[in-house]
Amino acid sequence: MKKFLISLILALCSSVVMAAGGGETLEQSGADLNDKASLQRGAKLFVNYCMGCHSLKYMRYSRVASDLDLSEEEVQRWLNFTGAKFGEPMLAAMKPEDATKWVGALAPDLSLTARVKLGGPDWIYTYLKSFYVDPARPLGWNNKLFPNASMPNPLWELQGIQVAEMGKDANGQPIVTHLQMSSPGTLSAEEYDRVARDLSNFLEYAAEPAALKRQAIGAYVVLFLAFLTFMAWMLKTEYWRDVH
Ligand code: HEC
Repeated sequence: MKKFLISLILALCSSVVMAAGGGETLEQSGADLNDKASLQRGAKLFVNYCMGCHSLKYMRYSRVASDLDLSEEEVQRWLNFTGAKFGEPMLAAMKPEDATKWVGALAPDLSLTARVKLGGPDWIYTYLKSFYVDPARPLGWNNKLFPNASMPNPLWELQGIQVAEMGKDANGQPIVTHLQMSSPGTLSAEEYDRVARDLSNFLEYAAEPAALKRQAIGAYVVLFLAFLTFMAWMLKTEYWRDVH
């Protein structure tokens, strides 16, 4: 019975993940909020490669500093290229209207993306690895996970350029079956995976900064409960000594 329940739950979970990508399976990002170095690298990658178009309107530079163990000077020098004040939110370099004119679509605020996308950081990770060239699209890029996304691959110089191998689905419609690296970027596949993981990790953190603190508090709560249990047990032994 127990085994049956466990496999039922697993089956339900995986069908939810499948639904998230419209039948696409997501790759495991390995994002880990306890990995501060990864979060710091992710923040740096985000401001360099994503913030031209995307904002994190609920995230202040000062909050990033305190959560990721960075000084005000480090943040202002390495993460803030827009001239914003230390206490201000991380808003895109480009005005949304200008970005929209250029890309042809509004680049959404990414504050909550890791929470609203089923699969969370794994969705973002897979998305960042699924770009391929497609001359039929206005900017020349398409995405296997998010078909016809308006975003061009911001990391193509690092990742390299992928091309799609096409096949047909059950209804005879053309689909991308496989992505092939046609010209390599400046990073190896493993190094690029780390870039995608660090970015997913940072966006996971940005979607719920309190999670960092909560995990730390959680450990104290468990310790406190263990202590309380111990005291209760001592008290019980004490009472029963009188009864016997
Ligand atoms: C040139 C502007 C531009 C840059 C640079 C850019 N994006 Fe995007 N991004 C977009 C646009 C436009 C969309 C909306 C795509 C659509 O809906 O068709 C988008 C969508 C997304 C989405 C999906 C959001 C959703 O809710 O559907 C994610 C995640 C994302 N971008 C992450 C990134 C990351 C991470 C980087 C940096 C490595 C980045 N983007 C760089 C323009 C950009």
